Amino acid sequence: MEDKIKSYLDEINGIAISTDEQAEQFRLKYLSKKGLITSLFDEFKTIAPEQRKTIGKILNELKQAAELKLSEAKSASQPTSAVSNAQLDLSLPSDPFNLGSRHPISIIRKQMTDIFTKIGFVVSEGPEIEDDWHNFGALNFPADHPARDMQDTFFVETEGDEKWLLRTHTSSVQVRVMENQKPPIRTISPGRVYRNETISARAHCQFHQVEGLYIDEGVSFADLKQTLYYFVQEMFGDKIEIRFRPSFFPFTEPSAEMDITCLICEGKGCPVCKHSGWVEILGCGMVHPNVLDNCKIDSKVYTGFAFGMGIERIAMLKFRVNDLRLFFENDMRFLSQFKSVI
Ligand code: DAH
Repeated sequence: MEDKIKSYLDEINGIAISTDEQAEQFRLKYLSKKGLITSLFDEFKTIAPEQRKTIGKILNELKQAAELKLSEAKSASQPTSAVSNAQLDLSLPSDPFNLGSRHPISIIRKQMTDIFTKIGFVVSEGPEIEDDWHNFGALNFPADHPARDMQDTFFVETEGDEKWLLRTHTSSVQVRVMENQKPPIRTISPGRVYRNETISARAHCQFHQVEGLYIDEGVSFADLKQTLYYFVQEMFGDKIEIRFRPSFFPFTEPSAEMDITCLICEGKGCPVCKHSGWVEILGCGMVHPNVLDNCKIDSKVYTGFAFGMGIERIAMLKFRVNDLRLFFENDMRFLSQFKSVI
């Protein structure tokens, strides 16, 4: 047995392992359950007791030599780091750092507020959860007005009698401003509003508006027209034309809606403007005397104009986006297209 062990030891010392496959073959031949060294240990159990000491010693040496050989082979075949040197090309440019960008609605909101603050309007804000008075009552909505209906307004469940709701327009902020400030008032109120609408390419249950309000002595419809004309020229360029159509809002008298030349077809007619060459962008009018009185502003001394427009509508025209839902889906393929716009 002693000779067998010595010859295996010579054999093992003479073996060179250079691949994983050779290492596995080595392990199977010598160290596995059915390997040669394991069978030597079985044989060892049968030898005479007086031989055990010497043979046990060299048998252990053989096993250790085999294990050492195998572990050296394994560590030689391991790559030194996760990326082996062959894969690492230090001359390659690094991955670009992905910069974020403003949301298109934020871009337009900022442009709109910049345009109005340039002519003396100040920005004011109000709560998105409103009471009935600020959203409807003070704005001269009759008690049975359809806009108060569950179909249009999201009401907030409360324990008391008072009705709370998600504001349906930013006109509620003009009430808060008039209640707290004395004329002259020149303010715009950008913000998010909510309506119980079916979501489609043209409507959403949440969107953004900018409300405008100007109250002073002697403010006229001519001031309103000029202010809005200035706004669209700044926003869309000098070539843009405007037209006013009579309309109705409970909080303004007279009321109007304003259209601008369709930017998609430049007034020639297309599906976006329903072949009329015009698109509606806002509602406006002279603040109703009842609204002034509701807010403790003397309607015999002061007059004012107000207007309200959707930021999404302006953004759609400006960026030629044909589906409103894109603004709310947070799809990076859409949002990353606005990177170059400041
Ligand atoms: N609040 C109206 C809406 O949400 C928009 C509006 C129309 C605001 C006329 C006004 C206005 O201030 O005078 O549709």
